[in-house]
Amino acid sequence: MKSLVTGGAGFIGSHLVDALVAAGDTVVVLDDLSTGRLANLAGVADRVTFLRGSVAVRADVDQAMAGCDRVFHQAAVASVPATIDAPVDTHFVNLGGTLNVLESARAAGVQRVVFASSAAVYGETDGTACVEAATPRPQSPYAVEKLAAEHYVRVWAPLYGLPTVALRYFNVFGPRQDPSSPYSGVISIFADRLRRGLVPTIFGDGGQTRDFVYVADVVRANLAAGALDAPSGLVCNVGRGESTSLNALYGHLAALLGGPATPGYQPVRAGDIRHSLADISVARAALGYAPTVSVADGLAALVAGG
Ligand SMILES: NC(=O)c1ccc[n+]([C@@H]2O[C@H](COP(=O)([O-])OP(=O)(O)OC[C@H]3O[C@@H](n4cnc5c(N)ncnc54)[C@H](O)[C@@H]3O)[C@@H](O)[C@H]2O)c1
Repeated sequence: MKSLVTGGAGFIGSHLVDALVAAGDTVVVLDDLSTGRLANLAGVADRVTFLRGSVAVRADVDQAMAGCDRVFHQAAVASVPATIDAPVDTHFVNLGGTLNVLESARAAGVQRVVFASSAAVYGETDGTACVEAATPRPQSPYAVEKLAAEHYVRVWAPLYGLPTVALRYFNVFGPRQDPSSPYSGVISIFADRLRRGLVPTIFGDGGQTRDFVYVADVVRANLAAGALDAPSGLVCNVGRGESTSLNALYGHLAALLGGPATPGYQPVRAGDIRHSLADISVARAALGYAPTVSVADGLAALVAGG
């Protein structure tokens, strides 16, 4: 099996590349290295074809797609603030790039496209678990771009017979999440600041909750989606189905790494949502997905290895 991973030098993409290589796939990575790093692929560099290019450029996508059986489309500007700052630019990557991937895959006769969507499509909720049938209420250009891209991905299945799956990731965490970026996961930012003896900052009162899912579980969901027999525009949540407040998360990390009992607090950021929790019954039924790593175990592994 030959697989293309767009954004394969990024946090989630590089873990997926590792797993595909371990499973014996021939792997091509297309990445513009805007946030990804070649160091993330160091362990498999001799077994992966790396192409530096953009999903926003059709010729780059076509070159990477040649001969591939399936595509895991992870590349995106994965930052809400970046999309608020430059929505036109990010539109061409996050939406236009997805359209390029779909059209290139269709032209190349690819058997499966798996798309990295986001829980951001749901927008603000009342704290109850998000179900895929709920009306999405995106609150940022990022969420609009992911939702629009997801619609393309879903519609390409019945319209053109291209088998697709869109996975709505919740808050993914694990090694290689870039802590130097102000936009990367709150966990790696907290951990990085605690390690450096600095007081982490929470934007808001810390009562906001997230469904944190360990990256290895997200990789397993991708592998299941990439091997599905009859995926016809399936859209499903990928989280743990468990909510954790940022204050509780901070408490876990401060206990593991040492640090002050309370973090610093700053005003809430534009576009941030208060609660986010996944109902994972669709992924369980359709993909046989079952998260295996608890938040506590994932944090301990991250702290031990990262
Ligand atoms: N991390 C999370 O919790 C989370 C949650 C929901 C959805 N997602 C989605 O999962 C995917 C992976 O996110 P991540 O957390 O690994 O982020 P990341 O920034 O580490 O990975 C994104 C990768 O895409 C690459 N990229 C960006 N623009 C590109 C372009 N124009 N052409 C080619 N490559 C490009 C980057 O260099 C990077 O390697 C993204 O689509 C993101 O929106 C992530």
